[in-house]
Amino acid sequence: MKAILVGFMGSGKTTVGQLLAQKLNVQYHDLDDIIIEMAGKSIQQIFDDSGEAGFRQLEHAALMQSLNQEGILGTGGGTPIQDANFELLRSRDVPVILLDVLPETIMKRLSNDTNRPLARKLGVSGLITLKGERDDRYEQVSDFRIATDDLTPLEVVAAVINKL
Ligand code: S3P
Repeated sequence: MKAILVGFMGSGKTTVGQLLAQKLNVQYHDLDDIIIEMAGKSIQQIFDDSGEAGFRQLEHAALMQSLNQEGILGTGGGTPIQDANFELLRSRDVPVILLDVLPETIMKRLSNDTNRPLARKLGVSGLITLKGERDDRYEQVSDFRIATDDLTPLEVVAAVINKL
């Protein structure tokens, strides 16, 4: 991989990752999509059938598989929180970029989200608590951080390229 994007749900990893890959003329890989393909079902369905623990197992397998590929990887919001994934992400010589968002931005982007199992389960205030619990981990796993709240996706891409 050329770069790995981490950050909370709604931080723009997929949008920015796709644009960044276009700019750099490389492929974009989305960890959630790889998981969906591996499982043959949606993220919600995986959570329903196997719980979060089942999802995390698939996520780890998908991460191991995708790290050897070329291009940009967009992880899921919970990916670096698992110890084994954290170690994997740190063990590679690939820049890990944190796309950060303020709680206000999460409120705006995720308050009516029905596609993400954790957003459905926790509601927006629960999500903000979860982000607070995860923030140190995002900082520790990443090489640099971009505050994305006031930036357009293209501006975030430019900021990432500037740091690579
Ligand atoms: C999750 C984030 C999601 C997805 C799953 C769990 C999390 O990815 O992997 O719903 O634990 O934060 P996005 O950050 O791409 O929404």
